[in-house]
Amino acid sequence: MKRIGIITSGGDAPGTNACIRTVARRCAYDGVELMGIFDSWDGLLAENVRPITRDDVTGIVATAGTMLRSSRSRLFLSAGDEEKAKTALAKHGIEGLVVVGGNGSQTATLKLAEAGFPVVGVPKTIDNDLAGTELTVGFLTAVEMCTHALDNLRATAESHNRVMVVEVMGRNVGWIAVEASIAGGADMALIPEFPFTLDDVCDKLKLRHEKLGRNYSMIVIAEGATDSEGVLQAASGVKDKLGREKLGGVGQLLARELESRTGYDARCTTLGYLQRCAAPTAVDRILATRVSDKAYDLLINGQSGMLAGLRGFEVQAVALKDVVGKEKRVTAEYYRLAQLFG
Ligand code: F6P
Repeated sequence: MKRIGIITSGGDAPGTNACIRTVARRCAYDGVELMGIFDSWDGLLAENVRPITRDDVTGIVATAGTMLRSSRSRLFLSAGDEEKAKTALAKHGIEGLVVVGGNGSQTATLKLAEAGFPVVGVPKTIDNDLAGTELTVGFLTAVEMCTHALDNLRATAESHNRVMVVEVMGRNVGWIAVEASIAGGADMALIPEFPFTLDDVCDKLKLRHEKLGRNYSMIVIAEGATDSEGVLQAASGVKDKLGREKLGGVGQLLARELESRTGYDARCTTLGYLQRCAAPTAVDRILATRVSDKAYDLLINGQSGMLAGLRGFEVQAVALKDVVGKEKRVTAEYYRLAQLFG
């Protein structure tokens, strides 16, 4: 291949720039021209495409966000969209494509591959819900950020005898909540995968405060979690561009319910986009570099329709048809670990 493209799609995640940098470096060494597609798939259709040189990626390993910018796009939701994308790619002489993104983006990658265009995926989302890889780029930085937040919020919870609810992202899965809860020493992690009732939560709080003599508690709740009686509503009722429910707000509802049911002073902190904008940790920069390096190899060697996934400690080629449509959810065994310290 003489010219390839790179696109970043979906929510930004720390380490995305390290992915772009790696592909740019590999291209520079091999004499392959790299075209950056800006503003995701909509940018492709708008011909927002320009060359990315080695100089363009200098210093970006340490930065959050994506130098190519990103968005959620409706391209690939309708029949015929693959052909539209192929025509736009051909117009710029792009012979192969690296797609850096999560579930939605890799669904598009598979569709494009099935339409005969050479394309590979790099797993990137703070939610870590992509199948076929143990970790996605950005996830561990988000966990790190939430862990620091818990470490800091503990001081206020303790000083004011409060129940501190911390709402984290994760969409329909509880990976961020569970890992931040373990690392940050939370007393409870409430996630979409495992049902809970508000009575259970109140009982646990009473046990801590009345029997164990604790004066404060820390609860992490994933944005997609709801109690089994449906008192808490994760969905805001507002839809995004793709018609998906906008999440956010369940933590406030939980704090209010707990305060009225137990009488303990309760507050919520919603960490929101702070989880996406932190500088990538060293681990994420290295993961980003390894998976992008592999993705480049796959593309150049004609292995279209593959994701460069982390399996155990190795980065391997994983067929996207085995990834797309599956959601990697927190297992009971993993959740047990978070509950151990509750
Ligand atoms: O997919 C990553 C994510 O941060 C989710 O955790 C969250 O629900 C969603 O994106 C928010 O996306 P937006 O940027 O569209 O508000």
